[in-house]
Amino acid sequence: MRVLGIESSCDETAAAVVTDGERILSSVVASQVLTHERFGGVVPELASREHLRKIVPVVEEACRGAGVGLKDIEGVAVTEGPGLIGSLLVGLVYGKTLALSLGKPLVGVNHLEGHIHAVLLENKMTRQRGEGVGEARFPSVTLVVSGGHTSLFRVEVQGRGLNDASPALPRAPSPQGRGWRSREAGEPGEGFFQGSRQQAGGSEAPAKPDTRVPTPLCLLPTFSYIRLGQTRDDAAGEAFDKVAKLLALGYPGGPILDRLARSGNPHAVDFGRVRMKGNPLDFSFSGLKTAVLYRVCGTPLQAEAERRRIWRESAGRVTTEETLSRCSQATLDLIASFQNAVVADLVERTLAAADSCRVQSVFVSGGVACNSLLRERFREAARQTGLQALFPSPALSTDNAAMIAAAGYYKLMAGQRADSSLTAHASLPLGRSNR
Ligand code: KG4
Ligand code: ZN
Repeated sequence: MRVLGIESSCDETAAAVVTDGERILSSVVASQVLTHERFGGVVPELASREHLRKIVPVVEEACRGAGVGLKDIEGVAVTEGPGLIGSLLVGLVYGKTLALSLGKPLVGVNHLEGHIHAVLLENKMTRQRGEGVGEARFPSVTLVVSGGHTSLFRVEVQGRGLNDASPALPRAPSPQGRGWRSREAGEPGEGFFQGSRQQAGGSEAPAKPDTRVPTPLCLLPTFSYIRLGQTRDDAAGEAFDKVAKLLALGYPGGPILDRLARSGNPHAVDFGRVRMKGNPLDFSFSGLKTAVLYRVCGTPLQAEAERRRIWRESAGRVTTEETLSRCSQATLDLIASFQNAVVADLVERTLAAADSCRVQSVFVSGGVACNSLLRERFREAARQTGLQALFPSPALSTDNAAMIAAAGYYKLMAGQRADSSLTAHASLPLGRSNR
């Protein structure tokens, strides 16, 4: 099934075409970094305006890149929340209108579920390339860590194993016989996936005997999520962005701090551990951010940051090397220590969750999953404990629409359908709480 995914929850306008939740035909992301960088963060009104400008060309580009027309799309999956309401609405209304006008099935996807599916999508693609990666194990503990979220989930899968060789599952439509049509909700054949083959032009082909065994719907993988913990204040990526802004290092802060931290001493400043009252799997990063602020305000580091700010304003686009040459060792040590503290906290709570849930695998997704130290620490933990640690590639870690299409595919296959009442939600919890 060829699904068009649309994502616009924050500051990336994205569209992708993904087949069977496992093969990316195209993935287009229009970044708004240039719009927001001078503010050091996302400005919601500017974000929605940019989405309005980009949504049509981005979807067109995704179809062109996939070599398909809109008529070849077999389902539309669109992010319904959580996120910036004005941004969400642009992608959602566009996706909804497209699906309704084309007569294609539509489904809403939770952005966080998309991030979780990015891990599974990457795992499938890596395995298809024969790169010797084991199949994703369930149940898993998943850390979604980005500029807007820091949440831990227990992820369970019911029905057919996700990576089973699945001859009975409907496969990608062949070029000759495009258009496997998934069962519409309420159609006859309850409990079974039914396909009908159509020719590229849309006219019915002479009925050919279908030799494939229909797959009972109950055997298709369905996913469930239990919320284990989440941030009570800033998201981890937000903390990276705010510290970078304080030190006048550019936006978004995460990738810049990641690169600069390599030149600093991660043990120079001891920020201590964050102790959480109540749920020990919750996170808090605002205290750490304030601790950095206190180490900068009224010290030579503040004057240094001010000099960098002036330099950046006149220099335009700058490289990491140029920025590095304008950072004192004390600044680099502070950056490395801050990153070390954030990463230690994320890894420690995720491993504690894996331990308490007695799971064998840890998935890490979201923009901060690009962080090199975070990946290294999880890999180290995996080597020591035998846990499976899986990440998406950097392109699938940050916001994209392929992950929305992949998550939407399983919902569509399970018969889920949204109608014209589908709307955006700034706050949209995923799964059920463990408390
Ligand atoms: O997932 P994403 O693209 O958007 C949200 O859903 O928020 O994540 C963006 C966030 C930003 O805060 C950015 O600074 C952070 O991910 N980020 C990183 C790295 N790359 C991106 N944080 C730390 N290290 C990185 N290498
Ligand atoms: Zn995200």
